[in-house]
Amino acid sequence: VVASALVPAILAITSSGKLWLGSAGAAFIIFALLVSFVFPRRDPDFPGNRLGAFIGVTLVLFAVMLVAVFQTAGGEGGGHGQAEPAESHGTTPSETSGGATTTGGATTGAAPAPAGDPVKGKQVFASAGCVACHTLAAAGSTGNVGPNLDDAKPSFELVVDRVTHGKGAMPPFAGQLSDEEIRDVAAYVVESTKS
Ligand code: HEC
Repeated sequence: VVASALVPAILAITSSGKLWLGSAGAAFIIFALLVSFVFPRRDPDFPGNRLGAFIGVTLVLFAVMLVAVFQTAGGEGGGHGQAEPAESHGTTPSETSGGATTTGGATTGAAPAPAGDPVKGKQVFASAGCVACHTLAAAGSTGNVGPNLDDAKPSFELVVDRVTHGKGAMPPFAGQLSDEEIRDVAAYVVESTKS
């Protein structure tokens, strides 16, 4: 379990050029595998009378690993104190995952297309001049340059697209209305034309 968790980390580290740490880690892993699977099979008493040697090797590998981590981190940190970069190694993954979670949450919150406020949209519809060209019973408008919106019953996306980019005789409103106002007017058109 430990090994399977360590291997990707070691691979990631070695692939970014930190061979030192990689090989120390690999030695540690190999030793751990030998100790847990190979030696006990050969000698059921393991570590038995070799307990001292076993502990010795473990400590040496542990020390090598620590040194390797400090070296790698120190080199990366541009000659800072040794403990400080090592700490940052410890905190970086949790910070990253914390950030990712937050981002995920924010994205999820924003993802279902920000709806728009039909009440504000009614004012936009009147003040932006939609009334001059479009018939919309809810707005009391009878323009007939563009399609009758009561009949067209456009989707939210279509209104956003038309108002943003315009089409044919309909001018684009992108520079004139904010994204929010465009969503508001779209929400208003959709809400007042859906039957
Ligand atoms: C100068 C006249 C004019 C103004 C002002 C105008 N439109 Fe239009 N609009 C048109 C015309 C013409 C079309 C048809 C475009 C085409 O498909 O060729 C159209 C198309 C649309 C459509 C697509 C309808 C469909 O089913 O194809 C929507 C939705 C729409 N307008 C909404 C609005 C909104 C909301 C406003 C105000 C922000 C607005 N329009 C302002 C002339 C106008």
